[in-house]
Amino acid sequence: MGKIQLCIQNLANRVIESEDPARKVIELIHENGIDWMHACGKKGRCTTCKMSILAGQENLSPESEREKAFKAQQRLLPHERLACQAQLLQGTLVVCVAEQNKFPHLSYTD
Ligand code: FES
Repeated sequence: MGKIQLCIQNLANRVIESEDPARKVIELIHENGIDWMHACGKKGRCTTCKMSILAGQENLSPESEREKAFKAQQRLLPHERLACQAQLLQGTLVVCVAEQNKFPHLSYTD
């Protein structure tokens, strides 16, 4: 199995590597000790876990029904995905935390 790589640009370009493309992106983030919002408990109901994607969108799993619904309501923009829904199937993904989903106790680098 190939290695997958997630880079969070506005958390000092923190890189997370994994060999498990079956994990949801938010699990990779949390397993690596990084706080990431998930107000609905990772059920695809809130959009607070959304990632703003800078590169590698094509490496993600297809949009879930919930993501499609949020896109239709413009609660998710074309370059946004829910970290609790999407899996990184291959290659590299570069994301940043959206302004409205930043935690006050973390230092962001943008
Ligand atoms: S945690 Fe609520 S949509 Fe992902």
